[in-house]
Amino acid sequence: MREQAIIRDQNDTLRNYRDLFDLEESTIYLDGNSLGPPLRAAKSQIQETIEHHWSKRLIRSWNEDWLDAQKRTAEKLAKLINAEPDEVIIADSVSVNLYKLAFAALASNKEKKEVITDSLNFPSDLYILQGLQQQSFKEKSLRIIEQESCRYANDRILEAISDKLNLLSLSHVTYKSAFKYDVKSINKKVKQCGGLNLWDLSHSIGAVSIDVKDLGVDMAVGCTYKYLNAGPGAPAFLYISKAIQEKLRNPIQGWFSHKNPFEFDRMFEPITGAQAFAVGTPSIISLKGIEPNLDVFLEAGMQTLERKSKDLFDYFILNFQNILKERDFTIDTPLDSSERGSHIALLHKEAYRINLSLINPRITRKSFITDHRPPNIIRIALSPLYMRFEDIWHLTERLAEIIDTKEYELYSDIKTGVI
Ligand SMILES: Cc1ncc(COP(=O)(O)O)c(C=O)c1O
Repeated sequence: MREQAIIRDQNDTLRNYRDLFDLEESTIYLDGNSLGPPLRAAKSQIQETIEHHWSKRLIRSWNEDWLDAQKRTAEKLAKLINAEPDEVIIADSVSVNLYKLAFAALASNKEKKEVITDSLNFPSDLYILQGLQQQSFKEKSLRIIEQESCRYANDRILEAISDKLNLLSLSHVTYKSAFKYDVKSINKKVKQCGGLNLWDLSHSIGAVSIDVKDLGVDMAVGCTYKYLNAGPGAPAFLYISKAIQEKLRNPIQGWFSHKNPFEFDRMFEPITGAQAFAVGTPSIISLKGIEPNLDVFLEAGMQTLERKSKDLFDYFILNFQNILKERDFTIDTPLDSSERGSHIALLHKEAYRINLSLINPRITRKSFITDHRPPNIIRIALSPLYMRFEDIWHLTERLAEIIDTKEYELYSDIKTGVI
């Protein structure tokens, strides 16, 4: 089976993209859905920003480069999701962007009282929605639909949507199992019922193709530091469809959402377009890590990347059937590629300690960086730009070794830290 991996790598049309990264051979990185590794070009952009723009050009850089860079980067991101340039901004965190858009959606309709989300959504999104309902919109109700499994998740959402709906807010690809909703059908029903939809694209941007127009997306938010590899805490993005821009008001109006921020007027006058949802000064150093990545994603093409992700997944399944299944692993990610993003949720009752063994090996020198999500999930990200089929072969071998030698028993099961 290793031979198969080698042949697939030789035939991989994306194989040269790996050279754009500084990946160490002693580490196989499989956590690109949490924090992507840096492109060399992103590192030099950040260095140039520090050494040239910040150190030498100082405040002149706002006019010479930084304001343009922010706009240009947002336009490239808009292209990646088939949005118009003035439908996207890059700013703040996903949580803050979700707050701004959800607040605006709730404030925009006094008649409709229901907010719907579900238990597969990312906790921060749930906290934001809970906070909004409890602190600012007590007259509305928040329904968190309990999804026992992904199997009927689309149906449960479709059943729940009624004329009462004000806002539906879900993660496009869910963070645990990588289940992907049927966004188009869901948005169609939301529209028929007169509600608004707000999608969190954090686990889908850079992992699957997204066409916000075709999918009928009203609003979206998402990370740049996962599959887009922009660096820890790099600013998030926010999308708001032109059709609803005039109806919605940013609840945190700051000088960057003012029509003429540098005239320093005392009274607020909103700018038009998605920029109306900006607040304050953009984080330029982090922003600089985004643009080179977008260039690469646009060049490689999301459909090509998605195809490789599917091939990597299929190859993993082959290894799973032959080697991992008999070692009590199961898979919680949909096998149908139209229903998943680009990571695998591999389940095992010892998932936490197996994950530690992968990351900090005691009986080999090769480290595999995956992560653990409670209670029993090892997440394996398939990042087609830099991953090789052979990485999957080595991972499978290593998982079998950890089980066969019971290496995981050398680790404590008290959970600490991020991964
Ligand atoms: C799906 C999803 N939404 C939101 C967030 C939170 O993003 P931020 O920390 O930028 O607010 C994350 C973070 O991992 C996430 O995975």
